[in-house]
Amino acid sequence: MSFQKVHHEAAMLEFPKNFVWGTATSSYQIEGGWMEGGKGWSIWDIFAHTPGKIIDGTTGDVACDHYHRYRDDVALMGAMGLKAYRFSIAWPRILPTGRGVANKDGIRFYSDLIDALLERGIEPWITLYHWDLPAALQMELDGWLYPGMADHFASYAALCFEHFGDRVKHWITFNEPWVVSILGHGQGVFAPGRVSHVEPYVAAHNILRAHGKAVALYRDRFQARQGGQIALVNNCDWREPLTDSPEDRDAAERAVQFFLGWFADPLYRGEYPEIMRRRVGERLPRFSPDDVSRIRGSNDFFGLNHYTTMYASLPRPGEDVRLAARGNGGIAEDQEVRLSTDPSWQKTTMDWPIVPWGFRKLLQWIHERYDAPDIIVTENGCSLDDRIVEGEVRDQSRIDFLRGYIQQCHEAIRQGVRVKGYFLWSLMDNYEWSSGFTKRFGLHYVDFPTGKRVPKSSAAWYSRLMRTNTLPE
Ligand code: GAL
Repeated sequence: MSFQKVHHEAAMLEFPKNFVWGTATSSYQIEGGWMEGGKGWSIWDIFAHTPGKIIDGTTGDVACDHYHRYRDDVALMGAMGLKAYRFSIAWPRILPTGRGVANKDGIRFYSDLIDALLERGIEPWITLYHWDLPAALQMELDGWLYPGMADHFASYAALCFEHFGDRVKHWITFNEPWVVSILGHGQGVFAPGRVSHVEPYVAAHNILRAHGKAVALYRDRFQARQGGQIALVNNCDWREPLTDSPEDRDAAERAVQFFLGWFADPLYRGEYPEIMRRRVGERLPRFSPDDVSRIRGSNDFFGLNHYTTMYASLPRPGEDVRLAARGNGGIAEDQEVRLSTDPSWQKTTMDWPIVPWGFRKLLQWIHERYDAPDIIVTENGCSLDDRIVEGEVRDQSRIDFLRGYIQQCHEAIRQGVRVKGYFLWSLMDNYEWSSGFTKRFGLHYVDFPTGKRVPKSSAAWYSRLMRTNTLPE
């Protein structure tokens, strides 16, 4: 199916009533104010300041300066008719060294932001951990490699429930533990920059345990009174078998289990996928019965971030799978999967192929494997080479991308998949981690030297979609 055809078929599709439309951001990528209001340093402050780690040598010290401009940003959201806004709390803004006494200025900042959103009828969806771990916890305790982190995270989460839970009804404990594990502790390209074949599995394990503790605490002390929902957000690309052969079909299934099953199986089934236990062996930790009792059944909805698709196949004899997987597949040797793309696929400036039908297939895979959970698409979007021309940013390619992906989401719903919401990444261009400011994902163009925001054509297009609940022509 060609991209153009998807575009054509997408005309005038209505979404279910109460479908949640939103946009997403994260603290380190937009806030700036890195040493203001009593904030402590995070591992991303240190990582970005380390020479050689970020493509363009930039940091998130200022980013979109949202820390100072949040009122204007909320006004932009209001102007678009946004129903929901997903953002993250910087743990070191609330607890500068990760533990101890709450920093009042930090609490006030997020409390004011929440109030500003609610005043405009925008529902706050809060991520508690979007990668900016307080640096002290990394230096003193080894961060996610330390089992006791679960308790520190739960205490931080409790502070947030206490201060914001009267107004916040949707909590996300962790954003994309796969990224923290693989990119942060396996390949070392994201903070904390560790390179290992053992640590990704340990970090992942402790994150799942921390999630379990935070959810148990929310359920015990807050949920009945505050009436919210809580979940973890996973990312996953789709893996399509390169050929119909049983070997390639197995390789694709294996790849998705290593990517998403790694985290979602414990949440829904109480253990890691069998294929991982077999292949990873002793490097894969085991959950204690207490952990299982907290983790299994701990997702009130299935949070999914999705961006792209690749083909999966069995590596050729003698082929070096590390190269074949090109760093996209996790620990390639453990999976024995070769990844490839179709040269005819268009790509975003992240070099990610644009394959809308892969989104539908992944949604169906989740629906089947996890017994039809409510799914919230917590991120989807694209980076493009956006430019201001005569004061405008005409990003027709982003509109085409969104139309393609949202149409496939609609198709999944039509086939019975329980997708309940969609958050577009991102509200505005921002700091794209190790890519610095070289990638633009926003509905609003940000001129970083001045901080000026300019709505792109896609902002008007998405605004119409949200207002009409119908995919426009
Ligand atoms: C996600 C991540 C976001 C954003 C996006 C685009 O993995 O949660 O922070 O960077 O990818 O790369």
